Parts: sequence; C-alpha cells; structure tokens
Amino acid sequence: MKVNGEHFRTIWVKETDSKVIQIIDQRYLPHQFVIEDLTTVDEVVTAVKDMHVRGAGLIGATAGFGMYMATLEGAALVGAALEGASATSFEKYLSKASEKLLASRPTAVNLAWAVEKQQAAIRQGSTVAEKIDIAFKTAQEIADSDANCCQQIGHHGSQIIEAISQKKAGETVNILTHCNAGWLAFVDHGSALSPIYAAFDKGIDVHVWVDETRPRNQGASLTAWELGQHQVPHTVIADNVGGHLMQHGMVDMVIVGSDRTTYTGDVANKIGTYLKALAARDNDIPFYAALPSSTIDWEMEDGVKEIPIEERSAEEVKYIHGLHDGEIKKVLLTPEQSPAMNFGFDTTPARLVTNIITERGICTADKNGILDMFPEKKANG
Ligand code: MRU
Repeated sequence: MKVNGEHFRTIWVKETDSKVIQIIDQRYLPHQFVIEDLTTVDEVVTAVKDMHVRGAGLIGATAGFGMYMATLEGAALVGAALEGASATSFEKYLSKASEKLLASRPTAVNLAWAVEKQQAAIRQGSTVAEKIDIAFKTAQEIADSDANCCQQIGHHGSQIIEAISQKKAGETVNILTHCNAGWLAFVDHGSALSPIYAAFDKGIDVHVWVDETRPRNQGASLTAWELGQHQVPHTVIADNVGGHLMQHGMVDMVIVGSDRTTYTGDVANKIGTYLKALAARDNDIPFYAALPSSTIDWEMEDGVKEIPIEERSAEEVKYIHGLHDGEIKKVLLTPEQSPAMNFGFDTTPARLVTNIITERGICTADKNGILDMFPEKKANG
C-alpha cells in the first residue's frame, strides 16, 4: 500500500544487503515514519515482542525472516567455511532460535505456522549453504503469499460491501472495525481492511468507524493512519461507542481480523472484539472475520478454552503515548499505585460470526464451512 504516494510493504529485504531485513517500526506511527534494520535473531525477537511489528500475518512473515537470520548466524557460529560447518551445532542453533521466536508472542498462530514451514523447508537442504538459500527463499515466499492471500480477501470481501451498497441504493456503507487488521498487520493489503480498500477503489461509498482499541490504540494510531493514507473516509471512536452506533442504525456491518481461528470458527482477535460481536448480534448487524488460512489453527476445536491469550505488561494500561510539542511522550493515566491488568485478546465464539472471509472465498463460521473451503485439511478435522 502507499505511504505518501510511495509503495511500501511492512517488511522487506534491504536492497543493498540481503543479510538485513527492514521493517516499518510501528511504535512511532502515526506521528513518525521510521524504518528499522533487523540484523540478528535477537533483534527480530525484540521487534515481535515489543511490537515494532505486530498483527498476525506480519508476525508470521517476520518469524520467517527470523529463521533465515538464524541460518546465517548458525553458519557463522559453527565455522567460517560453510562447507565444513558441523551439521549438529548448526541444527542446534536453529532449534534454539526457533524456540526464542516461538516464545515471542503466543496468540497469533501465524508465528508457529511460519517457523514450522521454515523448519520443514530448511531440512530439505543438504549443505549449510543450501539451507541458507532455502531459508531466504522460503521467507520471501511466506511474505509474498501473505500479501497475495490478503489481496484475495479484499476481492471476496468487497462483494459483501458492494451488496450492502446496492441494498442501500448507493448510500454510504458504514463499517465498524476494531484494532488494526489493515496492511500494517500483514505484509500488504490487510485482512479486515482489504475488502474496504477494494470496495473504495471500485468507487463504492464507504465510511469506517475506527475503534481506538485501548490499551495500545492500534485503531486510533494505525488503522486511522492507513485509511487516511488511502483517503478512505473514517472516524475514530472510543471503544465503547460501537453499541450505541449500532442501536441507532449507524453501522451496516462489522469486520475484524483474527489472530487465531479454530477450524470450528471461533475467532481470537484484539481484546474487545467479543463485545462488538455481542452488540452486533443484538442489533442484527452482520459480523465478519477476515483472515488468511495461515491464521487457522487446524488442531484447536474450542477457542475460548484452548487459544492462548497473551497477557501483556500492566504499563500499557496505565500509560498512554501521544504527541506533545512535536515529541512523542508517555503519560500516566491511573493513580501510580493502582494495579492494572492487560489481556491482549479475546475469543468470539463462532455462533456470533456471520461469515469468515478467506483467500479462497466466504464461508460459514463452522467446521463444515471451513473444511469445505479447505478440503485438503479434512483428514485433520
Ligand atoms: O496485538 P496486535 O497489534 O499484534 O494485535 C493484532 C491485531 O491487530 C488484531 O487483533 C487484528 O485485528 C488481527 S491481526 C491481523
């Protein structure tokens, strides 16, 4: 997608040095556009853990590049000459690196998906040099496939928006979204925002209600920024406003992303999503989850019981970041001594999800709908 007219992805290989991965450091948006170089596995782990990059698809793509870094570091550690490198210590190094990456953030399943994909691919190489080459190509494939899947999600999901627009005789379609499941959460295009971009590009009159998404405010800072860059009309609202808007006919549909979706259709997404789904159901408003299949957990059946919910630092609840006198400042919101708690995600049960939008099309949020769309997974279901 474009930043001030120039095309960017959220992660890429540095043009002049293929050992360096570059990312947009999202901690500074919307106030500053900062590009960060990642040169080691530890830097990749920090970037994921401390949310320089975030969002399910981007976490997966970053982990893919992290495994590529691990092959480079492993090779350097076991000996300068690639040909003579000891296979066991190289494998040991890779397995340690994958453990570190896997532990960086627990909820988005794309992380484990990308690490496992890399492990399987790297195993196919017979020399260390070959393994490095495979890891590099696989990381790029993971990133490209993420961008392509999201583009397809946009194509399928825009048809839902188009149908609502036709039903409203071309009047504005009001769409509510929570958190950021736009291109910043993936490699490009996004999941929940991709259908909105596609509909907007087709000339459909859309307007987006952007939940601010406390505590880290991904809606207010990231979704609002990317919609603005694409000139999509939008309004930022406090997290608790959505129910009121729905009761007054001001929301035509809700669309969110997902960090992990069970093959039975339960959707884990940013904390607060469940409350939006409840309000949508109470007001007969369709609630969609848009996600690439890399976000589906093919083993988990009960999302509320089984999906690991990340608990982050209480500091994120107690403090808020913003621009003051041209500088990004952190300020305390609560009494200093008050304890706070910070669950990052919640699970919306499948029964509250109208449909799931994937790269292959739109399906019901249940085992049959999902497995019919991905028949090759039926053996696991
Ligand atoms: O904590 P984050 O910012 O990594 O959370 C991810 C999200 O932005 C959302 O949960 C999103 O809606 C789904 S990820 C595409």
